[in-house]
Amino acid sequence: MHDLKIDLETDKSIIKKKKDFLTLKDYSKEEIQYLLSLSSEMKKNGSLYDGKLKGKNIAMLFEKHSTRTRLSFEVAISQLGGNCIYLDVSSLQIKRGETIEDSAKIFEMYLDGLVIRTFEHQKAQTFAGCSNISVINGLTDLYHPCQALSDLFTISELGLLDKDLKFTWLGDCNNVSNSLMIGFAKLGIDISLGCSPEYVPSRDMLEYVMGISEKSGSRIKLIHDPVEAVSGADIIYTDVWISMGDKDSEEKIRKLQPFQINKKLLKYARPEARVMHCLPAHREQEITSEVLDSKHSIVWQQAENRLYAQKALLVYLFSENM
Ligand code: CP
Ligand code: NVA
Repeated sequence: MHDLKIDLETDKSIIKKKKDFLTLKDYSKEEIQYLLSLSSEMKKNGSLYDGKLKGKNIAMLFEKHSTRTRLSFEVAISQLGGNCIYLDVSSLQIKRGETIEDSAKIFEMYLDGLVIRTFEHQKAQTFAGCSNISVINGLTDLYHPCQALSDLFTISELGLLDKDLKFTWLGDCNNVSNSLMIGFAKLGIDISLGCSPEYVPSRDMLEYVMGISEKSGSRIKLIHDPVEAVSGADIIYTDVWISMGDKDSEEKIRKLQPFQINKKLLKYARPEARVMHCLPAHREQEITSEVLDSKHSIVWQQAENRLYAQKALLVYLFSENM
């Protein structure tokens, strides 16, 4: 097996320092690999990076709930010696109609960076486009790149981030699966999406990912039979069926029911298959507690790794000498 991480001392000319982290679309294979190696370094030797964000002020603007993303960023910024300002959206002038464009200009006067969690991806793009500070996407309706980066790190830690990996996404195709698809396609790894025909990724997203896959040699498969989708899988990943901001839909839940990860379905995967979930889980809906709390589940390792992936990203974006 060949792990897809790269040496941190690699020729830095292939790693371009970016201003923002809005989607993995903007990152090359080598840049993703570099961030994975840096995440691993943060886990092993994190204290060597203490102080790397000294003097940096980074705000967090969250319009949706969060436990992991908020906590991991706040702790990561603190451990790196930076200052984190959590913004209560309801008290900002944005809520009284100040435009994103005007707010972005003000943010750049005081801040070095912004982590944003919002609905329309366009809003995060506007913040990034209207200011010269680094904007990190902490989740939008379209993407969750911080989650995907961290999950790729978790998979690489298991020694499974390889061309031979059989990875299956099950359930609703959403912001998390979009970001994972992009990450896998860039790294040249196959991904199967087990979902009902109504809840496949958008045509634009599929066309984009298939375009990258053609070059990287990976394959994206859409499979509507759950047993076929998980057959022989090394890793099965799921997420909630109703994402934040989605309308509750009994019909959607009914249509996705066959894609629930439960003991019966898991039997078709490899005997040592790992089960992933970005959390929070809607227990007994997309996944049963029996599986979530079983030896197959690596969800707690995933959640812990958010901290190291976040630290890697922050050092990459904000540290003068990464
Ligand atoms: N996985 C994830 O992003 O969790 P939170 O919504 O709690 O941040
Ligand atoms: N797809 C979920 C992810 C939560 C971390 C949502 O957007 O609500």
